[in-house]
Amino acid sequence: MTKPYIRPRRLRASEPIRALVRETVLTPADFVYPLFVVPGERVRSEIPSMPGIHHLSADMAVEEAKMARGLGIPAVLVFGLPEYKDEQGSSAWDANAPVQRAIARIKDAVPGLAVISDVCMCEYTSHGHCGLIKGDDVDNDATLGLLAKTALSHAVAGADMVAPSDMMDGRVAAIRFALDDNGYDNVSIMSYAAKYASAYYGPFRDAAQSAPQFGDRRSYQMDPANAREALKEVELDIEEGADIVMVKPALAYLDLVRQVKDSFLLPVATYNVSGEYAMVKAAAAQGWIEEKRIVLETLTSFKRAGADIIITYHAPDAVRWLNG
Ligand code: PBG
Ligand code: ZN
Repeated sequence: MTKPYIRPRRLRASEPIRALVRETVLTPADFVYPLFVVPGERVRSEIPSMPGIHHLSADMAVEEAKMARGLGIPAVLVFGLPEYKDEQGSSAWDANAPVQRAIARIKDAVPGLAVISDVCMCEYTSHGHCGLIKGDDVDNDATLGLLAKTALSHAVAGADMVAPSDMMDGRVAAIRFALDDNGYDNVSIMSYAAKYASAYYGPFRDAAQSAPQFGDRRSYQMDPANAREALKEVELDIEEGADIVMVKPALAYLDLVRQVKDSFLLPVATYNVSGEYAMVKAAAAQGWIEEKRIVLETLTSFKRAGADIIITYHAPDAVRWLNG
């Protein structure tokens, strides 16, 4: 029995050596921080299923955005809860709705922070689906114009980037043309390109009051069993003009993050969704896991898998922990 002369453990012997050979290092610039904007003033109320995350009126969203900018986080992703819902989701493109107002106020008060807006219909429709309903399904083509109008209203309000999350076919092109036709050539599109029909969105749907009132989203969001189809979705969105492509959720789909990274040349985002966040917070609250270590290990795994951009509710905590 010979002694091993090749010893990988040599490079794990001390923290300075480990630091030298570390392949993946998180920085604040990796993160996008989601915000939930509601009507009113001075509203800051915690979302029960997402401890530490709040419903914020536009004025308080500005404060939260300032905090994020102060930590070195480059961007926020804005979601809105409207004052009213109807069959068409017409509050989605209302220039005076909470999202549009919050975008304008954040851009005004926190220059130097990029504002990304989520573009979808489910928060705004009375039925909670991500598009117009025809019969018992979503009418893809009739939805495209509404998504384009909504994205344009966000650009008019000052959004730097729009992020369509609806999974209708052809929406990236529809949004690109609407932006370009109106002089917003420089507003970029981060498409939720490979978005799966996932149980991990549960807490978000409480937070955004966007659960479908009948059926589910499986006729438009992807089957969790499929990987090749994700590459097809990403390819199409790139052809249609996407600037950044997203894989969502993150943790259960890291194989796709890696495959998308290796197959295409655009920046890859991944969304560490509400259910992933809630599981960590719940177990940490019980004292069953170490929150800080779990979060940093998880976020590192996203970057190691190939994510250039990590959308996460943990962003402010993660930056504070990274800063020691
Ligand atoms: C809206 C949308 C959802 C999420 C982002 N945009 C929910 C859904 O598709 O039902 C999920 C985000 C999260 O769970 O954190 N289409
Ligand atoms: Zn939706």
